[in-house]
Amino acid sequence: MSTAASSQVILSSEFILSKYGESLAGKTILITGVAGDSIAGELAVQVSSANPSTLILTARTGSRVDPIVAKIKAKNPAVNVRFLKIDLSDLKDVKRAARDLDDVPKIDHLVAVAGVMMPPFAKTVDGVESQFGVNYLANFLLVKELLPKVRAAAPKSSIVICSSSAMRGGVVNFDDLNYNDGKDYDPRAGYGQSNAARTMFAKLLAEKLQGEDIRVFSIDPGAVASGLQRHFTPEFIDMIKALRESGEPLRDLDGRSIALPPFTGASEGAATLITAMVDPTIEGSNGAYLHHNAVADDEITSHVLNREHWTKLWALSEKLIGEPFNV
Ligand SMILES: NC(=O)c1ccc[n+]([C@@H]2O[C@H](COP(=O)([O-])OP(=O)(O)OC[C@H]3O[C@@H](n4cnc5c(N)ncnc54)[C@H](OP(=O)(O)O)[C@@H]3O)[C@@H](O)[C@H]2O)c1
Repeated sequence: MSTAASSQVILSSEFILSKYGESLAGKTILITGVAGDSIAGELAVQVSSANPSTLILTARTGSRVDPIVAKIKAKNPAVNVRFLKIDLSDLKDVKRAARDLDDVPKIDHLVAVAGVMMPPFAKTVDGVESQFGVNYLANFLLVKELLPKVRAAAPKSSIVICSSSAMRGGVVNFDDLNYNDGKDYDPRAGYGQSNAARTMFAKLLAEKLQGEDIRVFSIDPGAVASGLQRHFTPEFIDMIKALRESGEPLRDLDGRSIALPPFTGASEGAATLITAMVDPTIEGSNGAYLHHNAVADDEITSHVLNREHWTKLWALSEKLIGEPFNV
């Protein structure tokens, strides 16, 4: 699966699992953002067929996870399923949730999928714009807290950070993450900012973990109809429709064209997450951004590729979580 993303066909989770799923047998997998209508929910059901030992499924409320637990029980009752409550808009709750896993000695795959897109301006409990806080900063802390368990599962354990092609239009506003306390907030810019941060984080984390044989990737799952579109306004939907009809490409921050992705099923959305977890052919590209089950670093903008931005983001994140993250 290691050829360029642009030359890839869109593959299903079933296909990726048929090639590489065997390595998930007996593993402990933690997935955030699990719900009946989410990509993470599909991922949980898909990987359950590969006989992991334990799936730790996180959400804000158990009722969101229940339909997925029922599907897993029907598909593979031998899998141990554990619900972990986390509200990613509250850093204290992220810490509390990590402590709830004190009895879990190792996590083979930490897959951070939860996210929110283009909500009206709001701040997390900790005072950070909500997309930056939920999509990125909570992951920074969650990874920090759980890294010892991922290390305990190495070699070939993984940390997978869901990102988005919206990363290509995103700028991390280091001096004003909150857009003048919401007065200059543009929901699209906020989503781009959070995804730029997600991909920068994976890059620097992989660099810091060099030599430890822990896989780290950020990925774009492609376009999937899910709960994510709940904040789309009629104007935004009309704008996307008009763009699709015109055939005009979007432009990334470096002026390169971005084709609007076709909508796929959730299986195809989850497939690139599975690629990040287990595809052995991409091991030499640790830290890469994946799209269509392949390394797609050529799609990353100069803003996101700028290593000074990675270190600046890391330092800013340490300040925001109130403690160092020494890898
Ligand atoms: N779908 C797409 O087309 C697409 C494209 C590119 C990238 N992505 C990325 O893929 C990821 C998954 O998206 P999706 O399509 O599966 O969206 P989704 O159906 O909305 O799922 C997102 C999940 O994140 C959870 N979440 C949101 N805020 C949370 C919080 N504060 N604390 C804990 N959990 C929270 C949601 O829980 P609740 O149900 O409780 O809100 C939901 O289960 C996102 O990170 C998104 O940026 C998606």
